[in-house]
Amino acid sequence: MNLPLMSFRKLNADKLRRNAPENGNDTPDIRAPHTEIPGIDKPVSRIFFGTAIAPMLAGKNVNALLDAVMAHGINAFDCARGYGFAEKSLGRWVRDRGNREQVVILTKCGNVNRKGEVAVNRKVILKELAASLRALNMDYIDIYLLHRDDPKTPVSEIMETLNECKRAGKIRIFGVSNWTHERIAEANAYAAAHGLDGFSVSSPNFGLARQVNDPWGGECVTVSGPENAAAQNWYAENRMPVLCYSSLARGFFSGKFRSFDYEGAKKVLDGPAQKGYLSEENMRRLRNAEVLAEKYGTTVADIALRYVFGSEMNTFAIMSTTNPARLPENVAAANHPLEQDEVRLLEKDDE
Ligand SMILES: NC(=O)c1ccc[n+]([C@@H]2O[C@H](COP(=O)([O-])OP(=O)(O)OC[C@H]3O[C@@H](n4cnc5c(N)ncnc54)[C@H](OP(=O)(O)O)[C@@H]3O)[C@@H](O)[C@H]2O)c1
Repeated sequence: MNLPLMSFRKLNADKLRRNAPENGNDTPDIRAPHTEIPGIDKPVSRIFFGTAIAPMLAGKNVNALLDAVMAHGINAFDCARGYGFAEKSLGRWVRDRGNREQVVILTKCGNVNRKGEVAVNRKVILKELAASLRALNMDYIDIYLLHRDDPKTPVSEIMETLNECKRAGKIRIFGVSNWTHERIAEANAYAAAHGLDGFSVSSPNFGLARQVNDPWGGECVTVSGPENAAAQNWYAENRMPVLCYSSLARGFFSGKFRSFDYEGAKKVLDGPAQKGYLSEENMRRLRNAEVLAEKYGTTVADIALRYVFGSEMNTFAIMSTTNPARLPENVAAANHPLEQDEVRLLEKDDE
């Protein structure tokens, strides 16, 4: 059953109050905070659970893990046609728990293929959307994203097709992943000029670590670091929800190695994590996070997530783990964004 929006507003405000330490509550109910995304008729948690994890890619039953995720207030799930059998795993859990109206399902089409090629056009969108609905065993998707950009396809074709899917009731809102803000603006200008809905969310990489190389191929887009200030300002001004993927830099901020141990980092991080995030400069950012973590008696993962929420953009963190013991720390971080002076301290990386 869908509750009217006003009820959600009240529910979320109450929840946030309960979590607020100044409320005098000794045992806060540590759950992810929620907010509204226009076009979605339920509250959306500030953390999206990333489903590109080994057991879900293999299509395994992960009901116990997803129950724990949901119990921590995370009701939004980032999936993709390109994530092996993850849609199947996710859809099975939703069916078993009968919670479709409580969860926010995001999935994507048009991922880069093994040859490094990208195709995103009308044919791909219609074909992959149908396949996603079948795999998820659902009749609509809350948030539908294009996984990559294919500049060969004009924005007119993309916007007309996505609006058609929306009118057919198959998707609620749509957006992009790994698109530059300039192409998003171009597509949304077309939509506005033709009385169509535009992209309303975007999912680039964003986090404390700068993305030094494209980790996955197919022209990944990051908005991390000072070199992407223009993109950050664009998002901050228009308030478009930014769903930050690899918000812990794919484990770079897991605390499994220290900032002085470059060789140790190589042993811990997988190929894409090394390619995307391992650099001397990011090791300096890790050192800054270690200093702040020490000061606050917390972990670098906590600090790195709080950095994401301390951004002036309207950020949501996409975060993965196979370990439910991580969840309390991660949802607590979402409730306690860093202050701007702390953000600047962490970014002091050019010395
Ligand atoms: N749109 C795109 O192109 C795109 C690209 C990449 C990823 N994604 C999405 O983003 C999701 C997350 O990406 P990701 O896996 O690359 O990176 P991530 O979430 O930044 O990092 C995941 C790593 O962080 C560790 N971790 C999580 N919480 C922790 C904590 N509190 N303390 C210490 N370590 C912690 C996890 O280890 P444990 O398992 O040991 O906890 C895991 O190794 C994916 O599942 C996918 O949904 C999207």
